[in-house]
Amino acid sequence: MSNRSTDTPRIGPYQLSGRVLLAPMAGITDEPFRRLCRHFGAAVAASEMTTADVSLWNTPKSRRRLSFGNDPTPRVVQLAGSDPGQLAGAARRVVDMGADIIDINMGCPAKKVCRRLAGSALLEDETLVRRILDAVVGAVDVPVTLKMRTGPSPQHRNGARIARIAQDAGIQALAVHGRTRACAYKGEVEYATIKAIKESVTIPVFANGDITSAAKAIDVLQRTRADGVMIGRAACGQPWLLTQIDYALREEKKSFAVPEISEQRDIVLAHLESMHRFYGEYTGVRVARKHLVWYATHMECGSQFRQRAVRAESTKAQMRITQEYFARRISGDRAATALGLPWKWCDGENNEPQKEKRRGTGNFGQQQKASAA
Ligand SMILES: Cc1cc2nc3c(=O)[nH]c(=O)nc-3n(C[C@H](O)[C@H](O)[C@H](O)COP(=O)(O)O)c2cc1C
Repeated sequence: MSNRSTDTPRIGPYQLSGRVLLAPMAGITDEPFRRLCRHFGAAVAASEMTTADVSLWNTPKSRRRLSFGNDPTPRVVQLAGSDPGQLAGAARRVVDMGADIIDINMGCPAKKVCRRLAGSALLEDETLVRRILDAVVGAVDVPVTLKMRTGPSPQHRNGARIARIAQDAGIQALAVHGRTRACAYKGEVEYATIKAIKESVTIPVFANGDITSAAKAIDVLQRTRADGVMIGRAACGQPWLLTQIDYALREEKKSFAVPEISEQRDIVLAHLESMHRFYGEYTGVRVARKHLVWYATHMECGSQFRQRAVRAESTKAQMRITQEYFARRISGDRAATALGLPWKWCDGENNEPQKEKRRGTGNFGQQQKASAA
């Protein structure tokens, strides 16, 4: 298989539009962000994980997580749990609600998930993995996919065995974060293990972990021979990266430049507005804050924008600060000052975007907690 072919992978009846998937990220891949990332070329954008315990679905948070009706097809809903019957029942429910594909979470190392033996903690118990996958595949007539890691720990990398169990159970695609559960987000991603997993099955495999550029995506596909890539943290604050990767993986090798500043303005403002609409005033401001911080890390003079944006206490103030930042960037600080606007954006020492700065997941976790209203 050519790793730069125009052929796209298939998940059950769905011929994907490309080879770039958005990774599910709790607290991030909500309906507004999924819509944005699908617009920028993500062939699939799964929902944030939802608990398989349907008795917990009646909270505002779960209801928002299960709001996928406006997503373009294929609509992928991720479920997390450890009880095969419970997962099967939850899968039936979300299919009735309109899900096109069910994804099972065996990739998340978060304590809250793992304390209940779910997420990547399940990889320890291959018998339970088999029971869960058999139960869910048997319960629904839509494709079921699996998100996994390379194993529970570096001493126990059973990813290839889990992949075969999954394929035998009827799982139709795998996404593999190339780290063990014990490694969390630390250390190098094991692309060689992803390759071994890919070689052990015939279903599509998507490589995930630390892919931050089109060049890295091409390199990872060459190293893993995977069918596509899954992008998580790197899409935050620069969703156009997905288009850049998508273009680079297509045979025509077209490239896609970072959007002009006026286009960036339109993208950020539209995203901001959709978050405000989706979450309402209180939660909307808090969820939008973290996205503005991520946008700021990719912008010139972003640190000054960030400082102001995080202090905004209302949706209106957040909008105004964002509009003002872009107005100044577009017209230039001097023009803005001539207009009598009160301060300069670009008078700090470090006006360069912080593109190369790698973000740890600690920040993501904290910001997630802050927004889990
Ligand atoms: C804040 C955050 C939340 C996440 N939530 C989920 C989740 O709900 N389900 C899941 O399968 N993986 C989850 N992940 C893992 C990502 O899907 C992905 O595997 C991981 O971030 C590695 O990819 P990346 O290096 O491209 O970010 C989460 C990761 C982060 C940083």
